[in-house]
Amino acid sequence: MKPVRILFVCLGNICRSPLAEGVMRDLAQKAGHGQAISVDSAGIGAWHVGAPPDQRSISVAKAHGIDIAALRGRQVSAADFAAFDLILGMDMSTVRDLSVLAPPAMAGKVHLFMRYATGRAGDVPDPYYEAADVFEALYQILEAGCLSLLARLEVRAS
Ligand code: 4NP
Repeated sequence: MKPVRILFVCLGNICRSPLAEGVMRDLAQKAGHGQAISVDSAGIGAWHVGAPPDQRSISVAKAHGIDIAALRGRQVSAADFAAFDLILGMDMSTVRDLSVLAPPAMAGKVHLFMRYATGRAGDVPDPYYEAADVFEALYQILEAGCLSLLARLEVRAS
């Protein structure tokens, strides 16, 4: 497979994007694409720089056999637009913010995650103020999206 570097971006980089990072890395490794697909995550905001993922994201990942506890929050930076091939925002608000930050030549790398992955537009909703049970639904959304993303990348590579 053609190597691809993917950056998942949400608002805080503690709930959605680190979970997406863990899920995508796991799926890529299981599909034998662990070398070709590199994955990272970042946040629009700086509130959680250096912090581990939200405990609810760590727990739901763990329940599905994925360890994201060692990830640490970071803010998206100008250098990311050169360092990654695909910059996937979790919702339209994130995509708008990324589009403002992106150097014009790099704007084509920015996409809404679900639209890029599945062809159908849709936000991955912000779960931060939701109850813990919302995180299982979040996991299911991200797993389905990442499976579609993997399939799209495999088609692109073939
Ligand atoms: P995330 O969730 O964008 O999925 O990481 C949030 C985490 C923190 C905040 C907002 C959303 N916050 O306002 O601190």
